Amino acid sequence: MKNRSLVSIDDLSTGEVIKILDLAAEFERDPVSRLLEGKVVATLFFEPSTRTRLSFESAINRLGGKIVGFTDAGVTSVSKGETLHDTIKMVSSYSDLIVMRHPIEGSARYASEISSVPVINAGDGANQHPTQTMLDLYSIRKTQGTLDNLNIFMVGDLKYGRTVHSLMMAMSRWNTTFNFISPEELKMPEEFKLYLENLGLRYYEHLDFTDIIAKADIIYMTRVQKERFSDPIEYEKVKNVYVLKNAMLANTKANMRILHPLPRVNEIHTDVDSNPKAYYFEQALNGVYTRQAILCSLLGIK
Ligand code: CP
Repeated sequence: MKNRSLVSIDDLSTGEVIKILDLAAEFERDPVSRLLEGKVVATLFFEPSTRTRLSFESAINRLGGKIVGFTDAGVTSVSKGETLHDTIKMVSSYSDLIVMRHPIEGSARYASEISSVPVINAGDGANQHPTQTMLDLYSIRKTQGTLDNLNIFMVGDLKYGRTVHSLMMAMSRWNTTFNFISPEELKMPEEFKLYLENLGLRYYEHLDFTDIIAKADIIYMTRVQKERFSDPIEYEKVKNVYVLKNAMLANTKANMRILHPLPRVNEIHTDVDSNPKAYYFEQALNGVYTRQAILCSLLGIK
């Protein structure tokens, strides 16, 4: 894995995914070590973030590394017209690894082709979010005891939600049954359904999930991605289509867990938060251990 970029979850073999999850479990047991001493990591956030940026920065700090970067491209020379090409060329000469979030799909792959150091995709538009997927896999394995043969419900914005695209591709390796719940306007894009069809995997599409909720092992709720809509009226129509409430969980499996990449808006009522099946805040914490493991793996640090 040394010196490779992580742009899509498919950049990692199944063996590499498992190795990173196992290493993350070691970091959960013992989070502080100085494995990144002397290393500089650049965090370039062209789009807002709370969890991804701060959990990466927490991971780097716990590992003794140093951080350079920005949270607003408006304070960089991008505002003077500098291209992504030149920005990456420069930053890769100042750092040992780049973590980048950018609104344009494909920007992370482009950056990885220019950069002389590994690039981690921290979300490129509606395309992919592979490090979120790694922490999702970690959370699923930890709560279910396995990644095999699970029934996963993905609910909400399956069109623009990059986390569901990456997670679907990853979980396709473990004989998952997928239930996609979304309004017509926000259905899982054809290219991702074709991805499953080519693997001979089952998926089912629904407009509602109250009648089938008892079958779920994981309910993966998502926010409707307001920032991807060009027409605000279209957003208003779909923004509150699904709201998970505590009363809906009465007949769910004892070991079912609710995940959400966060931030949430209205799609999970706060009355769910105290239900033991709510796992989204622990899931976000798992991002620190998982990102520690990803950083060490891509830098070839044992
Ligand atoms: N899950 C996630 O990507 O959250 P942030 O947008 O806060 O980084």
